[in-house]
Amino acid sequence: MKVLVIGSGGREHALVWKIAQSRLVDKIFAIPGNGGISEIAECLEIKTIETERILSFARKEKIDITVVGPEAPLVLGIVDDFTNHGLKIFGPTASCARLEESKVFAKTFMAKYSVPTAEFKVFDNPSEAKNYIEQINAPCVVKADGLAAGKGVIVAQTIEEAKQAVVSMMEEKVFGDAGKKIIIEECLEGQEASILIFTDSKEVVPLASSQDHKRLLDGDRGPNTGGMGAYSPAPVVTEAVFKEILEKIINKTIAGLNQEGMEYRGVLYAGIMLTKNGPKVLEFNVRFGDPETQAIIPRVASDLLEGIIATSCGTLGKFLKAGGFKWDSRACVSVVCASAGYPGEFAKDKPIFGLKEAKAMKDVIVFHAGTKRLPQSSKAQSDFVTSGGRVLGVTGLGNTIKEAIGKAYQTVGKINFEGMQYRKDIGNKALL
Ligand code: AMP
Ligand code: GLY
Repeated sequence: MKVLVIGSGGREHALVWKIAQSRLVDKIFAIPGNGGISEIAECLEIKTIETERILSFARKEKIDITVVGPEAPLVLGIVDDFTNHGLKIFGPTASCARLEESKVFAKTFMAKYSVPTAEFKVFDNPSEAKNYIEQINAPCVVKADGLAAGKGVIVAQTIEEAKQAVVSMMEEKVFGDAGKKIIIEECLEGQEASILIFTDSKEVVPLASSQDHKRLLDGDRGPNTGGMGAYSPAPVVTEAVFKEILEKIINKTIAGLNQEGMEYRGVLYAGIMLTKNGPKVLEFNVRFGDPETQAIIPRVASDLLEGIIATSCGTLGKFLKAGGFKWDSRACVSVVCASAGYPGEFAKDKPIFGLKEAKAMKDVIVFHAGTKRLPQSSKAQSDFVTSGGRVLGVTGLGNTIKEAIGKAYQTVGKINFEGMQYRKDIGNKALL
């Protein structure tokens, strides 16, 4: 089988790494991939939003199945395009991708189908939004409707901060059209968890629970990032909590989507706040989470590609009857090493040292994100240089979360590039 994976992050490296272990695979391609991915897949210099070029390549190369990492090509309708040409692809259609593309769509959908989420109101007028903030008082949360590279959510502690968020989104238009409409919602309290499931719109196959660390600095301080590390499983998601999430959130969502005529196939990611009034949805993503995927995938003890194919073909029922996914009972912790300056402007082209020593470690996988592999002919100091904000996901497995944390950080200690920054407390919340 020929498999194509779209994307260039640690998430995609984890997917390619696991797919490469499938008995069904002959060759893997990645668009555009990264330094680490290029060691196991053939990488093509095409952008993930160049969906027509991707389709031409897949048709020419007769790709058997394509797996989409990021949301942008999904929102652009890559799944619709592939399906129209009879090509198999894992991911939801553009219509279903609105669950992530538009927070107004997602919240309105949740309200309609009684999926638990924070109380909210939609605004397209800044003065009305500011009046409403006066009424409900702080803390409150201001969210841009559209995609804003993870920066469109402001958890405001004061009325002034919330009003400033309205000004920057609606009047200064810092996110362009994504801020034309906004949501103001109730501030929820509790621990967060990421719940990812595979669905073909008939069956639901949950993946293991996980928890992300969105802030840049230890103790959940500093600016929001794409995610600085993750662990799986998340002990706060007990068996009872998991059951409640599946019943009250996931099953209701899939049923609602079906009722709307939106046949969802792919992975659905629910960002959940575990409040004292039960689990509530913070957001939906229509793709694998990053870095969560780097902590989940190493724990999959069966053939991931079989689950991917079953999802895209609508045969998850059969897949489940055959046993579904088996899980490695060990815990997994992934620590993100980022470039100096991230999540703002960051440095690039810094040689990365210690990757060979890291590779020799047992129960450790170093997933690459923003890295580039230099040609063998180059006489550089290192085979890899940095090329992105998040550079590596140093991932350790252990019998306990504590052991996995130890493995990951022991390995981080062997790796180095100029300006490398990482959190020192990934996974600690699971130990409380
Ligand atoms: P989102 O992109 O909607 O997941 O929001 C990003 C982050 O903002 C979440 O991971 C939470 O930490 C925080 N957040 C979003 N909505 C709320 C809310 N209603 N109450 C408290 N925190 C929130
Ligand atoms: N880790 C958060 C996300 O993938 O959106």
